[in-house]
Amino acid sequence: MAKEKGVKSIEDLPGIGPTTAEKLKAAGLDTLDRIATAVPADISDITGMSLENSKKAVDAAKTATTLEFSTGSEVYEKRKNIGKISTGASSLDEILGGGVEANGITEVYGKFASGKSQLGFQLSVNVQLPAGKGGLDGTVLFIDTEGTFRPERIESIAKAAGLDPKQVLDNIIVVRASTSDQQVLAVERADKTIKERNIKLIVVDSLMSLFRSEYPGRGALGERQQKLNSHIHRLQSLADTYGLAIYITNQVMDNPAILFGDPTTPVGGNIVAHAATTRLYMRKSKEEKRIVRLVDSPGMPEAEAVIKITTSGIRD
Ligand SMILES: Nc1ncnc2c1ncn2[C@@H]1O[C@H](COP(=O)(O)OP(=O)(O)OP(=O)(O)O)[C@@H](O)[C@H]1O
Ligand SMILES: [Mg+2]
Repeated sequence: MAKEKGVKSIEDLPGIGPTTAEKLKAAGLDTLDRIATAVPADISDITGMSLENSKKAVDAAKTATTLEFSTGSEVYEKRKNIGKISTGASSLDEILGGGVEANGITEVYGKFASGKSQLGFQLSVNVQLPAGKGGLDGTVLFIDTEGTFRPERIESIAKAAGLDPKQVLDNIIVVRASTSDQQVLAVERADKTIKERNIKLIVVDSLMSLFRSEYPGRGALGERQQKLNSHIHRLQSLADTYGLAIYITNQVMDNPAILFGDPTTPVGGNIVAHAATTRLYMRKSKEEKRIVRLVDSPGMPEAEAVIKITTSGIRD
């Protein structure tokens, strides 16, 4: 949905200040589209605003959001301009249809040491390459939830790509999140940095670890999934708004319901499964070899690529 000038975010709506905006966001009403389709009485309940003022806010949101109707050919033209980030391995780029796509969420799941973080490092370097040379000429927001960001690795990968390691590291903004609240906030407050620094890749490594440890057991699952849902939608909306790529890593569990074949299942349930535009499953093979399976993609068939993790980064 395209937005009219003036009202660009929910904070710009009449009667909605920062505190009220926080309340709305906490309830999942975090975009103009959502407010536009909300019932004024609910807005009033959530925020404590009068019914009359809630109605004004909803009307203003309706005016600010305009639905775009496009022909298939117009969509096709637009999609041609969507950027791709090279993974460093041509076989993997190929099954992805050119690389990790901007405007969407790419998820990689797999066991420990399968190479999820390594691919995140490689993409953080490659996105800085010029457009058409495997990059998007942009910088990186790296949300590190496990304390596994390694500047030394970035340095080696950057050198191998013929880039100045210091400059490459300066172009990666790292947020070390120790709680899921910090993780959510890092994304919620990203707009300014994205614009100022021309961020074209957001890495969340990993998406679920903090959510999993903070919300153990079945009882907390509903609350966790609600928070996770709004977090992921926020990521997708950043991807749409700024034409950037989102790369998330995910943990796996053994699913005892799968009797035949590989029982490895990504965590996070349907919310993550539906939100990821492209899903990849990475697993260890012999030595430095890794097998990457394209599990889900809106436009590419299921396929596998074999890659290597080397000192210089991801290679064929
Ligand atoms: N400098 C290096 N040179 C070559 N290979 C490396 C180097 N550093 C790490 N690796 C390889 O990468 C592996 C670790 O991969 P990575 O950290 O991406 O795993 P992961 O999937 O993120 O795991 P986790 O779930 O634990 O976060 C190591 O086991 C090693 O095989
Ligand atoms: Mg990792």
